Amino acid sequence: MMQRLGVNIDHVATLRQARYRLNPGAPQVEPDILLAAQEAVAGGADSITVHLREDRRHIIDADVALLKRELSVPMNLEMGLSTGIVELALATAPDYACMVPENRQEVTTEGGLDVAGRAAELKPVIARLQGGGTRVSLFIDPVESQVRAAAEVGADMIELHTGTFANHTGSARADEVRRLAAGAQLAHSLGLQVNAGHGLTHENLPDLAAVPHLVELNVGHHLVARALTQGLRAAVASFRQRMRECA
Ligand code: PXP
Repeated sequence: MMQRLGVNIDHVATLRQARYRLNPGAPQVEPDILLAAQEAVAGGADSITVHLREDRRHIIDADVALLKRELSVPMNLEMGLSTGIVELALATAPDYACMVPENRQEVTTEGGLDVAGRAAELKPVIARLQGGGTRVSLFIDPVESQVRAAAEVGADMIELHTGTFANHTGSARADEVRRLAAGAQLAHSLGLQVNAGHGLTHENLPDLAAVPHLVELNVGHHLVARALTQGLRAAVASFRQRMRECA
């Protein structure tokens, strides 16, 4: 089965906020987040991912509402567990929600969620989101206890953190591929949908092919970076082609 591609457009909003954070109503505000999402869909994105952070450093509440209203594909909302973000997610009822750890100081999401340690907190939030029609994913490292905990708290999916995989080469990457494969195997056997994301590129994608059961990949930085020279539609289309070659 062909893997699905979720395109994370946070960095389109990062560029907008770099200039217009203090003047969001300016008539010349750009780039346009909805247009970017539509270009990603035209290039072959199956879903659009946005991460609403507590500090609103890229995606802001109005983006989430706009995308939810206008997108023709599912919206995947990445979210931390703080009360304000959870309330907003419940009010929005995104198609998918992916719970991530959130540390205000981090440049990007640095590690997986400690599902085992935060099960009591996660369980009711997951159930409430599912009650509103949202399929819930948990962003975790490929660690057996975390995969088992994800099934126990009632998640629909996990997203395996591929940051360590992406940051290494050679035997260290091969070791991480083995961990990801074992995590994917276990999650699949427990009835969880298995997704993966973080740091994925044209270069490292072939090495991920050894990980079984991957249904959806979430890719952001690489595609937005390539969009600067190729355009987002072409960058997404080229990545889709790469996914076909690696399947
Ligand atoms: N998945 C999750 C949970 C993330 O937090 C991120 C980064 O926002 C991504 C996927 C996409 O990672 P990248 O931007 O490195 O492709």
